[in-house]
Amino acid sequence: MFVTTKLWISTYGYEQAKESINGSLERLQLDYLDLLLLHQPFNDYYGAYRAMQEAYQEGKLRAIGVSNFYPDRLVDFVKFNETVPAVNQVEMHPFQQQVQARQFMEKYGVQPQAWAPLAQGRNNLFDHDTLRAIGERHGKSNAQIALRFLVQLGVSVIPKTVSRERMVENKDIFDFFLTEEDMASIAGLDQGESLFFSHYDPEQVERLTSLVRTF
Ligand SMILES: NC(=O)c1ccc[n+]([C@@H]2O[C@H](COP(=O)([O-])OP(=O)(O)OC[C@H]3O[C@@H](n4cnc5c(N)ncnc54)[C@H](OP(=O)(O)O)[C@@H]3O)[C@@H](O)[C@H]2O)c1
Repeated sequence: MFVTTKLWISTYGYEQAKESINGSLERLQLDYLDLLLLHQPFNDYYGAYRAMQEAYQEGKLRAIGVSNFYPDRLVDFVKFNETVPAVNQVEMHPFQQQVQARQFMEKYGVQPQAWAPLAQGRNNLFDHDTLRAIGERHGKSNAQIALRFLVQLGVSVIPKTVSRERMVENKDIFDFFLTEEDMASIAGLDQGESLFFSHYDPEQVERLTSLVRTF
């Protein structure tokens, strides 16, 4: 078991984040969390991260990191904080491979983690011909090929499923290797943009921040 949770933007700022961390530990009935992430780079995420660093020093958090911090935010954040985020959880799957974002994570020693590693099934991922052709050669499903691709790039993956069988299937990806040719043909599926929304889109930022009481 590895427990990760996130702070949402309404609990940002030093004092609120401190309360939120203690509240999460109480609700989960745990002495520590394995990983705590800042969910989005909006509102007072510097203040929230100060509370996270403190809880990390106190042993309440084993690791601290961020989510949806694209290269501009990540570089700024790394430069002005003592603790480099251990992880940056971003949208990543065969259709959005985050090539530039991964380069910057590597440069600063931040572990990339993929949310929606199966693209939530969009773009026909579970029946996609390119993934199927590769899967047939390895005796693996499209989901397994998509996950293995990310793992071979050094990305950690958190596929979601409510089915026990699919959970077992999604974990069964460590007994084979994709060839260079396989990796290149999946690399060719990259569309270089989100299948969901862009964090650079001001209307999207308005939607997210409208969920929080502002001045
Ligand atoms: N940080 C963020 O901003 C952010 C944003 C979005 C998501 N996340 C997190 O990322 C994690 C995963 O992302 P996600 O749920 O958005 O997308 P995902 O893991 O890409 O896709 C989940 C979907 O794929 C199906 N599925 C899973 N394994 C399958 C398999 N082997 N074969 C066929 N279908 C399969 C699931 O259905 P069943 O459940 O019916 O199997 C579900 O509909 C979650 O923990 C989520 O909380 C984080």
